[in-house]
Amino acid sequence: MKVLVTGHDGYLGRIVGPTLRDGGHEVMGLDAGLFAGCTLGPDAHDVPGLQLDLRDVRPDDLAGFDAVVHLAAVSNDPLGDLNPACTLAINHRASVRLAQLARAAGVERFLFASSCSLYGAADPTTAVTESAPLSPVTAYGTSKFLVERDVAALADDGFSPTFLRNATVYGFSPRLRVDLVVNNLVGFAQLTGEVLIMSDGTPWRPLVHVQDVARTFLAVLEARRDVVHNQAFNVGSDIANHQIRDVAEIVAGVVPGSRVAYAPEGSADSRCYRVDFTKLHAALPDLAFEWDVQMGAEELLRAYRSYGLTLEEFIGPRFIRLLHIRELMQAGLLDDDLRRRVPAVGR
Ligand SMILES: NC(=O)c1ccc[n+]([C@@H]2O[C@H](COP(=O)([O-])OP(=O)(O)OC[C@H]3O[C@@H](n4cnc5c(N)ncnc54)[C@H](O)[C@@H]3O)[C@@H](O)[C@H]2O)c1
Repeated sequence: MKVLVTGHDGYLGRIVGPTLRDGGHEVMGLDAGLFAGCTLGPDAHDVPGLQLDLRDVRPDDLAGFDAVVHLAAVSNDPLGDLNPACTLAINHRASVRLAQLARAAGVERFLFASSCSLYGAADPTTAVTESAPLSPVTAYGTSKFLVERDVAALADDGFSPTFLRNATVYGFSPRLRVDLVVNNLVGFAQLTGEVLIMSDGTPWRPLVHVQDVARTFLAVLEARRDVVHNQAFNVGSDIANHQIRDVAEIVAGVVPGSRVAYAPEGSADSRCYRVDFTKLHAALPDLAFEWDVQMGAEELLRAYRSYGLTLEEFIGPRFIRLLHIRELMQAGLLDDDLRRRVPAVGR
């Protein structure tokens, strides 16, 4: 298939693009380049792409594609809260417009990177299925809910959207993010000796490795249409639900000499939910996940060590989305609506 991957220069995109290409697909990227240069280690990224803002996509940009894998977004809660109106303009309205243009261009498959944060403050005593009520508590979570609602309404015989509600992702990508809980805890442990928990440790959070997410996108892309047509799937596995304090213990066991510590200002976190992943694995029985948190922590530790991650880099703007975007704004390179004033140099 000829596949357009939006957000191919992001944390997931750097793994999803090559995974689809290695699966035999012809992959093109589209990304505004907000994180150009925010890379750890060698970055052998050779998926060709357009540097373009999602809000400026034209009908011609969709011509000739069989599928769109839509990852581009203002993509976490803190960044989404920086300018909630802009978060909705990009994540909701521009995403729905992208789906409309794709459908008009005859693109048959549209895979949307949704999120388990749709479930918001769910009751943690039961694991939520895809039919659970959605109660997002942030602009970011709301944007995912609105896209699912509006793009589902576009589904027809020639246009099959699928909504992949990813758990919180962890694992190494050359476009590293340390604002993700496992990536963050391993960094603190290695660089300070403390596995520093910013909440009281009790929240439940479903976790999934970035390579398992990429393989899920590939499997959904290749699945029979009737299996995935206009369906939402939670993306994770039955070992995905963790309490943060247990994740911290795993990390402390992986990083020699580290111990679990709680930030003094830590409190209960309203984003607390357990998620049921039965539907995905029943629909795609050949999709086997390969990673658990311990393996992911070991992988991250190896990468942090071999690429020489420093404490200054770890707490600075290169790998923390909110800090990086603020830095670009302060330097006059991005406007308040997260539009680039000048094209990014490099990738
Ligand atoms: N990382 C996670 O834990 C996680 C969990 C659930 C869902 N998701 C979803 O997966 C997708 C990818 O997440 P990620 O972690 O790779 O995010 P990321 O921030 O690393 O990458 C997002 C990419 O989108 C691009 N982008 C942002 N605004 C754009 C715009 N207006 N036009 C064009 N490109 C734009 C950025 O330049 C960046 O390369 C997002 O939709 C996110 O909401 C991620």
